[in-house]
Amino acid sequence: MEKLMITGGRPLQGTVSISGAKNSAIALIPATILADSEVVLDNLPLLSDVAVFADILEELGAKVTREGSQMRIDPTQIKSIPMPNGSVKKLRASYYMMGALLGKFKEATIGLPGGCNFEPRPIDQHIKGFEALGATVTNEHGSIHLYAKELRGAKIYLDVSSVGATINIMLAASRAKGSTIIENAAKEPEIIDVATLLNSMGAVIKGAGTETIRIEGVSELHGCRHSIIPDRIQAGTYMIAAAATRGDVVIDNVIPKHMEAMTAKLLEMGVRIEELDESIRVIGCSNYEAVDVKALVYPGFPTDLQSPMTSLLTQADGVSVLSDFVYSSRFKHVPELVRMGAKIRVEGRSAIIEGSRLNAAKVKATDLRAGAALVIAGLTVEEGITEVSGVEFIDRGYDFLVENFRRLGADIWRETE
Ligand code: EPU
Repeated sequence: MEKLMITGGRPLQGTVSISGAKNSAIALIPATILADSEVVLDNLPLLSDVAVFADILEELGAKVTREGSQMRIDPTQIKSIPMPNGSVKKLRASYYMMGALLGKFKEATIGLPGGCNFEPRPIDQHIKGFEALGATVTNEHGSIHLYAKELRGAKIYLDVSSVGATINIMLAASRAKGSTIIENAAKEPEIIDVATLLNSMGAVIKGAGTETIRIEGVSELHGCRHSIIPDRIQAGTYMIAAAATRGDVVIDNVIPKHMEAMTAKLLEMGVRIEELDESIRVIGCSNYEAVDVKALVYPGFPTDLQSPMTSLLTQADGVSVLSDFVYSSRFKHVPELVRMGAKIRVEGRSAIIEGSRLNAAKVKATDLRAGAALVIAGLTVEEGITEVSGVEFIDRGYDFLVENFRRLGADIWRETE
């Protein structure tokens, strides 16, 4: 097992380039199943979750070749074989195999997904969508079996604007007969990215990025080439790290529009921000104001950045309240930060954070974003070495994390336990 070792206290300086979005990539790869010829994906992040998805597609019979950040997927030989166990259990996003296989073969058996389990994460809205399209969905010994004689378009109102359910319904509905309307759809940029790929494959999807998405089913989808959008969560993590270490960092290859909630919060704290077309410069300062943060669905402040933000708020003067309205108990990073000297208490779905100096400690990442929060906390500590275990979680969402931080001047390295 590996751990990250950090000697903090150095202001980050320089430029970091952001990779393609993880949460797009892990929906786009299964989406390629729906095509009848080769799909080329560019700007893929080099992440363990992406590698697992390539394995899943190969197990089904696809030919997958990878060169740097490009992946070529030839789905012509794919079959819908049952996948109750194995790689599908390693990833939460393996639920996208349900929508993709159902769309193409009208049948799928997929083991219930694994992934970052910071709290119960139901998939009832995905199932509601599949059923509305005419599928029978049963849970057979922990595997979801889906079958439809025919998929027919339907009007589906999502009880919660779920990213996963919106994408899964788009996948299946793009090959259904007739029109599908998703109301209260999620509006995250990753939804638009998936719709863009599907449309390039010949699908007819309108309204992605708004709360109403209309899909006209088609009988065939073909190959295409698609470049993945930059990872807004990775970008936000480096923005927070730059501010927390009171550094001066240019975050390159970003879409500033996707970062608005993050940028606004940093400005409110007193961080200086300069925006260019595809980059954002973050200039930290010695004193930050405490602020309140509400994690909401897009375009609100992203829940995936609330754990890293908690670490930054320990560096503010006064008391901040950070509430998560997407996940009610995503606070597994808090006890670890408290071990580092943070003054934080959790009340309901909020963390109340009092500014304090952090000290070095041995801490454990229990999920991906909690891991990012601990690394940022470690980078602020002025004396001693912070040890972060649970690196396998961090590797799921941040490629070249150590290399990037080292290039920005941080003293961070990997050790094997
Ligand atoms: N929800 C339901 N029923 C459902 C689906 C969701 O009640 O059928 C609830 C969830 O419990 C949650 C809310 O709806 O309270 C939103 O969940 P959503 O479905 O949007 O999340 P997801 O699709 O499972 C994706 C990302 C997460 C990210 C969320 C929110 C992937 C694989 N995961 O999850 O990313 O936190 O959207 O933006 O795309 C991460 O990257 O660290 C991560 C966890």
